[in-house]
Amino acid sequence: MLKSKIAGIGYYVPERVVTNDDLAAVMDTSDEWIRERTGIEARRYAVKHKETTSSMGARAAEIAIKRAGISKEDVDFIIFATLSPDYYFPGCGVLMQRELGITKTEIGALDIRNQCSGFIYGLSIADQFIKSGMYKNILLVGAEMHSMGLDFTTRGRGVSVIFGDGAGAALIQATDSNAGILTTKLHSDGTYAEKLSFISPGSHGGYHQEVAGLDADYGWPSKDELGEIFVTQKMKDEGHLYPHMEGQFVFKLAVKKFPEVINEALTEVGLTSSDIDLFIPHQANLRISQFVQKIIGLRDDQVWNNIQKYGNTTAASIPIALAEAWEAGKVKDGDLVCLAAFGSGFTWGSALIRW
Ligand code: ACO
Repeated sequence: MLKSKIAGIGYYVPERVVTNDDLAAVMDTSDEWIRERTGIEARRYAVKHKETTSSMGARAAEIAIKRAGISKEDVDFIIFATLSPDYYFPGCGVLMQRELGITKTEIGALDIRNQCSGFIYGLSIADQFIKSGMYKNILLVGAEMHSMGLDFTTRGRGVSVIFGDGAGAALIQATDSNAGILTTKLHSDGTYAEKLSFISPGSHGGYHQEVAGLDADYGWPSKDELGEIFVTQKMKDEGHLYPHMEGQFVFKLAVKKFPEVINEALTEVGLTSSDIDLFIPHQANLRISQFVQKIIGLRDDQVWNNIQKYGNTTAASIPIALAEAWEAGKVKDGDLVCLAAFGSGFTWGSALIRW
């Protein structure tokens, strides 16, 4: 039976380093508060007008393709995961295809919307396409430009200090060796969709709030009136056009779901956490990663964290961390690598890879 492996991995982070002190200069926060609660010391912000989610994705993709030893024209499918796309539509997949200069091949491009779990969802999709024999070289990219839409006032400090920009890419290839992706596990529960969300602009017009019996008035026109519900003046005036997060709620669920989905994958392939050589958690918050590490019983040298430097880069965080760990010689042939993520939706997932 066909299997898939990660044949090349790469990442790109923008040059501009934004420290906690830089944020403290524009909002009421402090280096101490941010470090203590999240472990973050700095993050990168892309250069406005010069870099975008898809252009950063292309930079990471070029590295992954080169390391896989193939040419751009050999890529036969694109999967792009992001929550901060360049455009509402079309998606970043086609924009990156253009940026890479491979439109002539007319390969398919799929955008996926699974936030922090985007890379693991994408990996699972790529794995199925390869196992079915449909594609041989799939370019999977996770990229984010959070800095384009954060509230840089004190009102937004609970969210803005956490997120950073960047991109990671993997070239997923068919293999007949025993190494490769052993399993992927995907889950979701939409019950708490709004607890970590960016709901406006959108087409909902308050529907979900009304169903939940909540009072939400964002200045929409009445039912019979023709008028825009996507963005209203009230949303702009009252600052609704930003992400929202109930941090403690997210934290509590994340530390439960991470171990669950890791153990589910290990059990399926008949392994235990003591078999893991390297664990790469989605970089949500260093405290979440440390908590999960303790529960599954791993040493510090078995876990790769880089949120200290980059903040939470959502769909990009796992491929950036994996590429960094690989460059540092932490991922060797035969190693068991475990990836896991939890995030908005809520969606969560894990992957086990024999390198
Ligand atoms: N600087 C200073 N004070 C702040 C900041 C800030 N940046 N943000 C919030 N505060 C204040 C709040 O206003 C509040 O003040 P009050 O007590 O006077 O009302 C106080 O700090 C405590 O706020 P909490 O939100 O309760 O702080 P908490 O200890 O929960 O930490 C945090 C917030 C870091 C977001 C935490 O809840 C967390 O990490 N949650 C997990 C969510 C997460 O990791 N999200 C990442 C993205 S989602 C994902 O990838 C899974």
